[in-house]
Amino acid sequence: MGAYAGKKAVVTGGTHGIGLATVKRLLDGGAEVLLTGRNEDNVAAARAELAGRAAHVLRSDAADMADIDALGAAVAERLGAVDFVFVNVGYAEMRPLAEVTEEAYDRMFAIKAKGAFFTTRRLLPMVNRGGSFVFTTAVLDGFGFAGTSAATGAVAAVRGFASAFAAEFLPLGIRVNVLSPGFTQTPTMGIVFGSEAEREANQKAGEELTPMSRHADPEEMAAAALFLGFEATFSTGIVLNAHGGLATVAG
Ligand SMILES: NC(=O)c1ccc[n+]([C@@H]2O[C@H](COP(=O)([O-])OP(=O)(O)OC[C@H]3O[C@@H](n4cnc5c(N)ncnc54)[C@H](OP(=O)(O)O)[C@@H]3O)[C@@H](O)[C@H]2O)c1
Repeated sequence: MGAYAGKKAVVTGGTHGIGLATVKRLLDGGAEVLLTGRNEDNVAAARAELAGRAAHVLRSDAADMADIDALGAAVAERLGAVDFVFVNVGYAEMRPLAEVTEEAYDRMFAIKAKGAFFTTRRLLPMVNRGGSFVFTTAVLDGFGFAGTSAATGAVAAVRGFASAFAAEFLPLGIRVNVLSPGFTQTPTMGIVFGSEAEREANQKAGEELTPMSRHADPEEMAAAALFLGFEATFSTGIVLNAHGGLATVAG
């Protein structure tokens, strides 16, 4: 029997990268999973890739309160009670302070911070005692990089929410933890790049700045998320730094 047989999970931002790797591990382990994404093409690709498996793929924009409400209704209808919620939606525009417009700031916080907050509020009543939430932040959540202030603020907000939720959900028997990824080799690298040159610079920076001298594989992040979600049963309110040593050891 698989490690997650009989378990039900929601993965927001599950259509590619770290989210999709986590979805596949859950499915391989016997779980039933509802996953979301916003981009229609990516939703369709995930639906095709996961066809025939115990997966429900829903287009849902984390920045849209009506979509969050519809997500809650879909979870209630298709899964009922839930054991694991991975709040993994990512959106990051990296710009120096002088180039961050009000619109860009609002977009960043609406998707990453407000989305995580209200997704949690909507799904909490469906999470079983003994279940857990994991929130994805980023190495930025506790470490300053120039040219990332809006993204840093948004992931730090999520880290803060998770800390308070962990305390608030204690009486419900629901754990809350944070996965903080470092540079990870996903299709987007977690960033909305303005050009191919920016993408290449980010690739190089990841290799140079990370003491392990490489980007993580999304599988490594999925393993960390599921460790927090299911195995770390005496941990709540923690941040698992999966940074390849970045910000923790000298390279
Ligand atoms: N890759 C890295 O190096 C890295 C580093 C640090 C932290 N992270 C974090 O790790 C998580 C996963 O990163 P990733 O690189 O695998 O992918 P990502 O490009 O950050 O996207 C993750 C997921 O979020 C979804 N998404 C984006 N905007 C959305 C919205 N408004 N509503 C709903 N879904 C939305 C994407 O779906 P669509 O494409 O369909 O919109 C995708 O499924 C993110 O939270 C990211 O910030 C990544």
